[in-house]
Amino acid sequence: MHFLSSFLLSLPLLSLAGHRTRSFGQQHRRAALKARNTTTTYVLEDFYQGQSFLNSSLWTFFDDTDPTAGLVNYQSSADAQSKGLAYVQEDGTTILKVDNTTTLTSGQYRDSVRIATTKSYNGGLFIADFYAMPYGCATWPAFWTVGPNWPNQGEIDIIEGVNLNTHNQITLHSGDDCAIQSTLSSLVSSNSTIGNLQCASSASSNTGCTYIDSDARSYGKGFNQQGGGVYAMEWTNEAIQMWFFSRAHIPSDITNKTPNPSSWGNPAALFSNSGCDIGSHFSDHTITINTDVCGGWTESAFSSSGCSGTCADTVAVASNFDNAQWSINYVATYQS
Ligand SMILES: *[C@@H]1O[C@H](CO)[C@@H](O)[C@H](O)[C@H]1NC(C)=O
Ligand SMILES: *[C@@H]1O[C@H](CO)[C@@H](O)[C@H](O)[C@H]1NC(C)=O
Ligand SMILES: *[C@@H]1O[C@H](CO)[C@@H](O)[C@H](O)[C@H]1NC(C)=O
Ligand SMILES: *[C@@H]1O[C@H](CO)[C@@H](O)[C@H](O)[C@H]1NC(C)=O
Repeated sequence: MHFLSSFLLSLPLLSLAGHRTRSFGQQHRRAALKARNTTTTYVLEDFYQGQSFLNSSLWTFFDDTDPTAGLVNYQSSADAQSKGLAYVQEDGTTILKVDNTTTLTSGQYRDSVRIATTKSYNGGLFIADFYAMPYGCATWPAFWTVGPNWPNQGEIDIIEGVNLNTHNQITLHSGDDCAIQSTLSSLVSSNSTIGNLQCASSASSNTGCTYIDSDARSYGKGFNQQGGGVYAMEWTNEAIQMWFFSRAHIPSDITNKTPNPSSWGNPAALFSNSGCDIGSHFSDHTITINTDVCGGWTESAFSSSGCSGTCADTVAVASNFDNAQWSINYVATYQS
């Protein structure tokens, strides 16, 4: 359904020689479900807020050519800050935005920002609180984690969408032998449906395995109208799962920094080792926040996601990017 749905890959594309793993049977499924209902005590590891995002020992600004062929000039930290595309407000909120002041001609590239943690993670609980996220025609924002050897070390897309989407799409990309089992659909939020079962990704088949959260508060304008909210992603050897909480419904254990995922109810997405050996497919992930401009998915879904004309013409007009900004409260990581 979502052709070219995610090209958030790291270059260079390396060989797809995946590790062959055994297939995972019923006992693994039960183990995953049991694990899901076990209280895990999480301890705060990293708390990124305010100037943390501009601190080069914690986050780096990616300023190479966009691997997904967007009409975008990702900015260095110095340039992003001098152009007012990355800054911390007086209240401590961090803004990462697309340039919305420069008039371009059709086909020219627009300035934007893509940042990633210097630190790599091999599991844990990741909690991000955003007051607002980018949306609008020609935008492709994402909050995600990814390993260095794509796709064999995996990619976890926690928030992702394009243009005027009114739903979030949660995706895993992996090496061979990793898929969602359709039975998991009964264990997730009633607003979530499986879009694609196959996580294994290659340059020619790169949809990944997906859940669509039809809750309009989960993405874009609907997210921002509620004052944003919190996304949580729990990554263990048994399962990767995500929860979304709109601003008014953030559990107090998250606010208190004593998060207990087993108290949060059904997740928005659940990927378990019933269909994928999580431990061997996902490793050494950095956390990334970016806003792409046009590029693969944005352009292939341009009209189906509410936009008219061409992506390149849309990029030329600065005011089309007035809503293209991340307003970040914090990103926190926890370990058990
Ligand atoms: C989790 O375990 C508790 C205690 O065994 C049980 O009461 C509860 O129904 C379980 N929850 C789920 C979602 O399975
Ligand atoms: C940047 O982060 C490092 C690691 O936490 C810290 O030691 C350093 O003081 C920070 N730099 C600034 C300017 O805050
Ligand atoms: C599903 O989305 C609707 C609309 O935003 C919301 O009212 C409802 O609480 C959501 N249900 C769950 C289980 O999250
Ligand atoms: C750019 O976008 C910001 C954030 O939405 C908005 O406050 C500002 O007025 C816009 N700038 C221009 C020149 O329209």
